[in-house]
Amino acid sequence: MRRISIAIDGPAASGKSTAARMLAERLGYIYIDTGAMYRAIALKALRTGTPLDAVEALTALADRTELRILGTRPAADGTSLCHLEMDGEDVSEEIRTPAVTHAVSPVSAISGVRRALVRQQRAMAAAGGVVMDGRDIGTVVLPRAELKVFLQADLKERIRRRRAELANRGIFLDEEEVRRQIEERDYLDSHRADSPLRPAPDAVVLDTTRLTVEEVLARLLALAREKGAEVPDAL
Ligand code: DC
Repeated sequence: MRRISIAIDGPAASGKSTAARMLAERLGYIYIDTGAMYRAIALKALRTGTPLDAVEALTALADRTELRILGTRPAADGTSLCHLEMDGEDVSEEIRTPAVTHAVSPVSAISGVRRALVRQQRAMAAAGGVVMDGRDIGTVVLPRAELKVFLQADLKERIRRRRAELANRGIFLDEEEVRRQIEERDYLDSHRADSPLRPAPDAVVLDTTRLTVEEVLARLLALAREKGAEVPDAL
C-alpha cells in the first residue's frame, strides 16, 4: 500500500488542524500538528520567564526540549486534538491558551527555534504516511511531499470559526478582539524572514470559506487519491 506525505499549510484559523486530523484518521496516517510544537516552546518560554526576543536563550531552550507527538486525544470540550508531550508532560490543552497563542509568533520567527523543530519534523515524516500541518511544510519542511495543500478562508469566516472554537472551551472574546489577534499573527507569520507563510509553487490552493468540514475532507481525499494514496472505504 502506497503511503504518501501530505503537507497542509495556511493562515491562522483556516481549518487546517481539523481537516488534517480527519484526513490522517481516514487514511490511517500519522497526524503531526507542527503549530503545537511551536506552541510548546512558547509555553516553556513563558513558564521560564524567557523574553520572547532572546534569540540565543530561546534557541538553547528549543534545543534541549523533548517533544513527542503521541497521536490525537480527546479534548475537554469534546473535540479532539494533537496529543503532545513536552519533557514528558502532557501540554496538549495548555498550549491552546490565549497567552501562548499571543507568544507563539515571535518565538516561531527565531531561526534557531525553527532549525530545532524542523529537524524533528523531518525525522517524524521520514517513513511517509503522514499528514503534517503548519505554515512552511510544503515550502521548507517537506518540499518533496507528494501532496501539498494551502487552505485559506475569508477573514470574517476565520473569525467566526475561531470564536466558536474558543466559546466551546469557555473563552468568550468579541469579534474585534479575535480579528486583531488573527490579523496580527498572520502579519507576523507571513512577514518574518525565515520560512514565511506562503503557498509552495506546486500547492493546491483550496478556499474553505463556503465548504463544510465534510466537503473539505472529501476534496482532500480526492487529491490524495490522485497522488497515488490508497484511500480505505469509510467505516
Ligand atoms: O497552527 P497554529 O495556530 O497552532 O500555529 C501556531 C503558531 O506557530 C503560528 O502562529 C506560527 C507558528 N508556526 C510556524 O511558524 N510554522 C509552522 N510550521 C507551524 C506553526
